[in-house]
Amino acid sequence: MLTPRKLRISGLAFFILILIVLFTVNTPRQAQGIKKNDNGEKYTITSNKLIDSTNDDKIDDAINNKIKLNKQEEESPETNTQPKKPKPSVEFDPAKALVEIRTISPMVVFSKTYCPYSKKLKQLLKDNYEITPEPRIVELDKHENGEDLQSYLYEVTDRRTVPNVLVGSTNKSRGGYDDIVKLHNEGRLLEMLNEWGNKKLVVKKKETPSNA
Ligand SMILES: *[C@@H]1O[C@H](CO)[C@@H](O)[C@H](O)[C@H]1NC(C)=O
Repeated sequence: MLTPRKLRISGLAFFILILIVLFTVNTPRQAQGIKKNDNGEKYTITSNKLIDSTNDDKIDDAINNKIKLNKQEEESPETNTQPKKPKPSVEFDPAKALVEIRTISPMVVFSKTYCPYSKKLKQLLKDNYEITPEPRIVELDKHENGEDLQSYLYEVTDRRTVPNVLVGSTNKSRGGYDDIVKLHNEGRLLEMLNEWGNKKLVVKKKETPSNA
């Protein structure tokens, strides 16, 4: 007697069998590594192709060679004079950059090479003061991330323009061109630089200031 339970089991077994047959029949021959040549004779593909297709071997080889060449170019971008995609640049961290710049010297002058006030201020410092260690000059127009750095400086130093002088441990700007020149003209810049530098910066007046 066929119980409903036995019927269900044999039905399921039959269904699985059908699935296996369908899958085997539908699997393309080429995926199994078998091709037909022009005479209709079957042969097994022995070469290690990057892709398989219904193209004949000449076309396949041409395509595969092209793919290989492209792949090699991608894998060795330094031999490729014109890379298709530029390398994604690492995110610029202005806070980290500022900390790094300030470890170089207790005095930093943010400047721009073409800015006349920056030029005048650098000249004034050079001609009149002997500063140890030497102030770090950062030319924002030559800096890789100068624009980002300048916006960040506006945030932390309260000064958007150059020149922007930072001395000592505070991030607040010690002045732009007008402020520093005013202190210089009043004869107070030496004293202020030493005070701001808090012994980490030693500033002396130059013996023979030029065009004083
Ligand atoms: C100055 O700025 C740097 C960078 O953002 C920060 O790490 C540091 O804490 C600041 N120092 C002061 C005294 O605010």
